[in-house]
Amino acid sequence: MLKKVAILANGGDVAGFNAVIRGIVKTAENSGVEAYGFIDGYNGLLKNEYVKLSTAEDGNAEGILPKGGSIIGSSTNANVFNYKVEKENGEVEYKDLSDVCIQNIKNDGFDCIFTLGGDGTQKSARDFSTKGVNVIGVPKTIDNDVACTDITFGYNTAVSVAMEAIDRLHTTGETHHRIMVLEVMGRYAGWIALESAIAGGADVALIPEIPYDLESVASKIRNRQSRGKNFSIVVVSEGAKPKGGEMTIQGTRDNGQGVDNTKLGGIGQVVAKQLEEITGLEARNTTLGYMQRGGTPTAYDRVLSTKYGTKAMQLALEGKFGRLTVIKNGKLDDVSLEDVVGNNTKIGAVSGNTAESNLRRVSLDHDLVKTARSVGINLGD
Ligand code: F6P
Repeated sequence: MLKKVAILANGGDVAGFNAVIRGIVKTAENSGVEAYGFIDGYNGLLKNEYVKLSTAEDGNAEGILPKGGSIIGSSTNANVFNYKVEKENGEVEYKDLSDVCIQNIKNDGFDCIFTLGGDGTQKSARDFSTKGVNVIGVPKTIDNDVACTDITFGYNTAVSVAMEAIDRLHTTGETHHRIMVLEVMGRYAGWIALESAIAGGADVALIPEIPYDLESVASKIRNRQSRGKNFSIVVVSEGAKPKGGEMTIQGTRDNGQGVDNTKLGGIGQVVAKQLEEITGLEARNTTLGYMQRGGTPTAYDRVLSTKYGTKAMQLALEGKFGRLTVIKNGKLDDVSLEDVVGNNTKIGAVSGNTAESNLRRVSLDHDLVKTARSVGINLGD
């Protein structure tokens, strides 16, 4: 019989974290199960720092449905299978501390751990599952790149924020006859760029899956000019790269080993400058950044997060562990965490943009690609 469960939120924050937490806690409470939350993701699991969660009046998980961020924090630098430890002499070493986490779980009698996170988080969840821990994953990320699910929570809110930015860039771009470039997040997947470009009626969308040729973009802009449209909106995904070229990288993150440490960003500025040179028109870049992650979730994300949270707790009640809640062909479902990590099965192996990583990227025959092309959005090819 399930008595005690714990939630951890891990990786970059998104709108909807709290809605998932609420869904799990409410379902747990209705079944007489106690729910806890580890503080700051896997870091809290390692340090054994957690709080009891309650949706009762004045409880810490009460009224959190519309709240952005995560009431139990989140960590972007916590691969406990390859954890950064500073020795007394100041030297840094990386250690597998997963057994400390497992001991913490056993000592305090947690029957299941819910891992809310993206591909890196779910890779660690799979590794814990391999080591015998009862885990259930919930797919989170604004990037929408977790394998085996049609959609991750937080993505819809990010797209809505990007769409609003495009709407605003339209009016200022039109007024000053400029090319307005908007750089959006997404890492190695162009979902945010593509969907927000369609939603906002942009003229160009450059995504990592389609290396671009700026001559093609320039001809789209010139074509608009010839029809009296003296401004253009260009949405650029942070992972976009020119044909035969590389991604623009800002630097390196210190998120430890066994995680993707590449700090993307800067491509918007590059594209704006080059388009100015090619077209002779004025161009300006706006980098949307963390606006895409913060703030209240959309109605869609609130509902999706609630579905995911309640489903995750249902799976726990049924004793179905080692699973990830997903949406498959529009239906709420679950898949094995093994399927989610794909070929990246080695315990502690690097998640993110490696050959083995099972990221879900935009496929060229996807409806969104076809739709974008049909309404004349130039994809840089
Ligand atoms: O994965 C989510 C995401 O927001 C990416 O879109 C972005 O590249 C990255 O996180 C930024 O990470 P950080 O919080 O380390 O700056």
